[in-house]
Amino acid sequence: MAIVNAKSILQKATREGYAVGAFNITNLVQMEAVVEAAVGQESPLIIQTSVTPSRFLGREVIVAVYRTLADRAPIPICLHLDHCTDVQYCRQCVDAGYTNIMIDASKQEFEENIRQTREVCEYAHKGGDITVEGELGTVSGVEDQIKVVEDVAQLCNPDAAAEFVMRTGVDLFAPAIGTAHGVYKTANPKVDFARLEKIRKTLTAKGLAVPLVIHGGTGLPEGTVKRLIELGGAKFNVSTELKHTLIDTTFTYIEAHRHEYNPGRIDKAVKEAIKETIHIWIERLGCSGKAE
Ligand code: 13P
Repeated sequence: MAIVNAKSILQKATREGYAVGAFNITNLVQMEAVVEAAVGQESPLIIQTSVTPSRFLGREVIVAVYRTLADRAPIPICLHLDHCTDVQYCRQCVDAGYTNIMIDASKQEFEENIRQTREVCEYAHKGGDITVEGELGTVSGVEDQIKVVEDVAQLCNPDAAAEFVMRTGVDLFAPAIGTAHGVYKTANPKVDFARLEKIRKTLTAKGLAVPLVIHGGTGLPEGTVKRLIELGGAKFNVSTELKHTLIDTTFTYIEAHRHEYNPGRIDKAVKEAIKETIHIWIERLGCSGKAE
């Protein structure tokens, strides 16, 4: 039951009006922490790796750990490659056993974005039950190797979204609607709810309803998260908050135990802290108890 692609769990989330957390991890302790938290709350789960940790740890190693953890977990778990700008690496991750791939050609011209996204979709769909996420418009901020300055970030046009989904065959769609990667500079970031609503309605009217992805989860106010889910956000990406939890917890632990040389204790402290963070997100997204 446990090894699944993203589409299957997100279609259910869209139907039932909740979102699934897609949590970026960079090491094994974090991977175990997100799985343990999701199992504890009987929630579906998407584990994500950006390209740099995927290359650093090795895609086969990540897939082997994922399969081991997912095989024995009584919840559906997807392994997602996040923001990959390299079609060839997307193909390699399909072959390695990732179950969802994000090709991010959003910085390219529209036609080139369609061409690259379609190429990855064709490869992933041919290779088995692997699903694909594409992005239109650009999400500002920094995520791994991708940097988009706020002033040049472009929001997604609803009609272009329909053409993009139809011509690429993507299974999940990430429209840029004003959320951003990293830490928001204001307590109330300007998110274009009306645009998300228009995108969902346009896609539905054209028979192209695919689950919608919200990037830039870190720092979004509770009310914003809730509204985005009501408007159809089904996959919620969270990365920066987990990096901060990892580094801050490690720092605090070492500061308090400067003369202790027991790495296992640092790992334990990090794991507990990450589990707490995931616990809060799972409740916030309404996916607790939704594993089936
Ligand atoms: P944050 O780093 O802002 O949480 O965004 C995560 C994300 O969208 C990853 O794709």
